[in-house]
Amino acid sequence: MRVAAEGPMESVDQWDDFVSSRYEAGKEKEQFRNYRADANPGVTEFYRQNHALQTLDFVLAKKAEYGSRTKARMSIQEAMDFLNTLVDDSDPDTDLSQIEHLMQTSEAIRAGGHPRWMIAAGLVHDLGKVLCLWGEPQWAVVGDTFPVGCAYSDKIVFPEFFDANPDSRNPLYQTKLGIYEPNCGLDRVHLSWGHDEFIYRVTRDYLPEPAQYVLRYHSFYAAHREGAYDYLMNDRDREMFQWVRTFNPYDLYSKGAARPDAKALRPYYEDLIAEFFPPKLDW
Ligand SMILES: [Fe+2]
Ligand SMILES: [Fe+2]
Repeated sequence: MRVAAEGPMESVDQWDDFVSSRYEAGKEKEQFRNYRADANPGVTEFYRQNHALQTLDFVLAKKAEYGSRTKARMSIQEAMDFLNTLVDDSDPDTDLSQIEHLMQTSEAIRAGGHPRWMIAAGLVHDLGKVLCLWGEPQWAVVGDTFPVGCAYSDKIVFPEFFDANPDSRNPLYQTKLGIYEPNCGLDRVHLSWGHDEFIYRVTRDYLPEPAQYVLRYHSFYAAHREGAYDYLMNDRDREMFQWVRTFNPYDLYSKGAARPDAKALRPYYEDLIAEFFPPKLDW
């Protein structure tokens, strides 16, 4: 049975497409301010929900709910096949759209001559979207991530939508640092809940630190693209974010690449998966 992700977008890919149009190669910084033109009504409504509903309490509740990782026991391949059961209304002919994006990303990283851990990170980076298949709405799975429990940066897209977030009326959460200490390190900061934090938690025991950063912060555009929230980062974060920045273009711009021949590539990826991951992981 195929299941759709609940929410205003025809598919969660519409959010990914919006981000890549926002940061289209060659676009001037100036044009970032006009990103609204690239957002269709579904994407705009998606951000309205995401910004209104991602509160600190919500994030803590989701971390508690998924922290025990008892939703499933699956291999990486099984998770890829499972994710592919997500309905994509916008592209009914592309039955392999989810796996394709993962393999286009990993293949582009491989062609770029990067280390095997980064290829592995590319292959699994969006597997956290299986959250949709466990009933999580789009606004709790995708979207630019941002810290909760402190003031919202105006470098986050659609910052005006935060007015509807109950946290914006809690003075404790609306100072620059909010509940955090200066340069406390991102590991102590709660970001909005979604597929990044979830796949980081599922895979962190098996991947080197740079890969963990890539998975955990790949949607934290306000930080890795716009330079916001430096006052929450420590030196380790700054050092590791170079890898997040190296990874990001492969995620954003590999979509138009040739369709990967999943069958021909299978032996390579079976080896790669076996190199990093156990036969089954807890999700
Ligand atoms: Fe992603
Ligand atoms: Fe992606």
